[in-house]
Amino acid sequence: MTRTLAPLALVAAALLAASCSSHATPAPAVTYPDKDRAAAAQALLSGPDWYRHAVFYEVDVRSFQDSNGDGIGDLKGLTSRLDELKSLGIDALWLMPIMPTPFVDSGYDVADYEDVSPDYGALGDLDALLAAAHPRGMRVMPDLALTPPPDQHAWFRHPRPPTTSAHADWYIWSDTPSDPNIGCGTFSAQFGSSAWQLDATRNQYYFHRFYAGQPDLNYRNPAVVKATLDVARFWLDRGVDGFRCDVIGLLVESATGCDMIPETQDYIRQLRAVLDSYPNRAMVAESTNYSSAAAYFGNGKDMFHMAFNFDYGYFWSMPFSGTLASAVEKPFLDSQKLNPQGAQDALVIGSHDVGRAYDAARGIQSRWERAAFVQMTMPGTPYVYYGEELALQSGSTAVVDTRDYARTPMVWAKADPNHGFTTGSKPWIPFGANADQTSLEGEKGDPSSTYSYYEQLLAIRRGREAFGTGSLQVLTVDDPSIALWVRASSDETYVMAMSMDEEDAHSGTAQGANLPGDAELLFGSATLTRSGADAHVSVPAAGYAIFRVR
Ligand code: GLC
Ligand code: CA
Repeated sequence: MTRTLAPLALVAAALLAASCSSHATPAPAVTYPDKDRAAAAQALLSGPDWYRHAVFYEVDVRSFQDSNGDGIGDLKGLTSRLDELKSLGIDALWLMPIMPTPFVDSGYDVADYEDVSPDYGALGDLDALLAAAHPRGMRVMPDLALTPPPDQHAWFRHPRPPTTSAHADWYIWSDTPSDPNIGCGTFSAQFGSSAWQLDATRNQYYFHRFYAGQPDLNYRNPAVVKATLDVARFWLDRGVDGFRCDVIGLLVESATGCDMIPETQDYIRQLRAVLDSYPNRAMVAESTNYSSAAAYFGNGKDMFHMAFNFDYGYFWSMPFSGTLASAVEKPFLDSQKLNPQGAQDALVIGSHDVGRAYDAARGIQSRWERAAFVQMTMPGTPYVYYGEELALQSGSTAVVDTRDYARTPMVWAKADPNHGFTTGSKPWIPFGANADQTSLEGEKGDPSSTYSYYEQLLAIRRGREAFGTGSLQVLTVDDPSIALWVRASSDETYVMAMSMDEEDAHSGTAQGANLPGDAELLFGSATLTRSGADAHVSVPAAGYAIFRVR
């Protein structure tokens, strides 16, 4: 695989070389006066809209960095690596669940909503993480799993046996394994076949959409609403910058629907009001509707700040295994059409719930890199899943379930026996397949590495308002395998070109593109020239480029 990198210092040279293509008339070299990007970034990342311009990083704390040799990643370990993340260009962290847990669902089963799991440290270690992150300009957003706490939570232990206890109606009970008011089964085959579990002590069945050890809370009970909103306050008071809200669309059930019913939307509005009572907080929804997260935004101001666009995030490998640009553009055009004003997509190409981007790309470097290119340049806030910047491959050990394949330890240094992850004898789960081939230490500074690719792409995004909040215009090219899109803020315009064909170079014309100026190549390799209102574009096989045109 060859790739032309265009570090900013080499822009002029790259532009000259690129403009010698036989397809396009050589364009005069153009260099737009640049801003102080560090100052611009600082301004964009301050104030209530910071999250629209930030690059997030999803960390599985358990697999990131062990500090005490027990083989389990922890908060102290994560804190010790903040500078590495900062130097990659990360502005905010989403932490997978850090609360005490019996670990039937990898921590998404929270046994105590107001503490830190001893595996990861103590509340004081979270305070230390926040105290280290904030002065670095980094934000921290833990996972908040309000939907299915485990049967070991104190709220659940209390109602059994006395059904008269304070928590008697905090869960959903039935004398039979069904309830006419609840028209939904388990969430997916992963979580079992029945949504009802007999509780021998109470001699009643309880409802659970996830693992049998995760009874659903009864959000029709106002005491549950109050208690869980207090949980949010507890963490906000400690200084977290917001939450990633786990499967929150499934909070309240009814006879006819269980996903984002009006009662759930009411709850989300109350949660938003809690966040709004603190300055500069934000929350992101894990939407259970993979084709549109529009419902999570309410009127654009009263529900979620961000919601994952899984139509791209979980399914990008499909358009990338074909050659049609329109297929990769569609999820973004759809959200532009369906989302209310003010909505901000959260963009992923992998997560703890799906296979690694490396595998989704079938090991083709140009494929995961172009998938990330789209993630970083289409409208939305990117969330890098830890290890994506190293093209980590999956593991093959399931401790809880097969999703663990994508939750293997971070690889810091190749030569080290446990790759710098732990000083103990072994990590809690074995490393992924290519841990001896890729590592942060080895990839950093290698210009052909995926790490360098991420580093450059994030540097270009930084301090450029157009990427976080600029408008999107998708241009139609007369060659269907070329994607061409424009992002514009009030004072700058960028054009992205990308080829879906991994075999051959392509050229085409976007009629009536009306680009506001000549193209300056910032990243990648392609040519873009204007003739009258039209734009001509040439892209190498599997190529991509970012141009500035204003
Ligand atoms: C979300 C989490 C997933 C978990 C599920 C149930 O989908 O991302 O990991 O299993 O919620 O809590
Ligand atoms: Ca540890």
